[in-house]
Amino acid sequence: MKINAKTKLCMTIGDPASHSLSPLIHNAAYAALGIEGDFVYVACDVRPKDLAAFVAGARAMGIRGVSCTTPHKLAIMSLLDEIDEVAKAIGAVNTVVNDNGRLKGYNTDYLGVIGPIEKLTPLKGKQVALLGAGGAARAAAYGLTRRGAKLTIYNRTLSKARSLADEFGAEARSLRDLAEVKTMDIVVNATSVGLSPNDQATPLNKSFITDKQIVFDAIYSPIETRLIREARQQGAQVVYGTEMLLRQGLAQFKLFTGREAPEDAMRQALLTALGEDVQ
Ligand code: ATR
Repeated sequence: MKINAKTKLCMTIGDPASHSLSPLIHNAAYAALGIEGDFVYVACDVRPKDLAAFVAGARAMGIRGVSCTTPHKLAIMSLLDEIDEVAKAIGAVNTVVNDNGRLKGYNTDYLGVIGPIEKLTPLKGKQVALLGAGGAARAAAYGLTRRGAKLTIYNRTLSKARSLADEFGAEARSLRDLAEVKTMDIVVNATSVGLSPNDQATPLNKSFITDKQIVFDAIYSPIETRLIREARQQGAQVVYGTEMLLRQGLAQFKLFTGREAPEDAMRQALLTALGEDVQ
């Protein structure tokens, strides 16, 4: 046990946070770099009514880093000292760094979307279909349009697609128009359709997927969603939701520790955990 009086504390907060995989990923990274006496990472369930008390406690105790999941990504913004420009533009914070009591909010979720796609192809000028207009879709819309993609947002509730599209200079369509996706370069699923236990559902008919496309699913439980499985059958290149989870975590790791994240160790910890614990 290397934890000592100088060990810095990082944590995920959510309601709930107890299913979070972030503690596993971050602690595996500390071990890989031999800094598990410098940092330790846990998860805490924090109710919305207790968020302000949590932030005061984080300041008082000098908690070094906080990852925010649902439902705190918006509410925490008004409780911080500073919000980074990207997080402001996205309108949500998923990462808080505490520098000597001064709390600054960041958003690394968008990196989780653009990073894995840019490993396969540049986004500039690409036609991208974004499925969904909720929280995950906001970060995706920011990242994709910032990288110069031509974005069309498809959502069950058209008014939500319209307001997100207006904000980020994209087009908005209803799910009835999904056949158009067939001619697009990249499809990003940011809906919750296909998430376990409803893993027989898919947000996109297989016949609209081609072997010229990249298909990205933000869902990582199950690792292989029906969308990903059918995209592979159609010959498309696929990006798994685990890559999004990993990549936003790599960026958080650097913000919390100031060190480059050990990507392979973190990916291995994630895939092992999902293989063992998640259907
Ligand atoms: P998250 O923070 O994970 O993005 P969210 O903000 O609740 O979660 O967004 C969920 C997204 O999945 C929304 O775009 C939602 O569509 P609506 O805006 O119409 O609610 C979409 N979604 C959820 N269930 C769906 C379903 N059965 N069919 C189509 N879209 C669905």
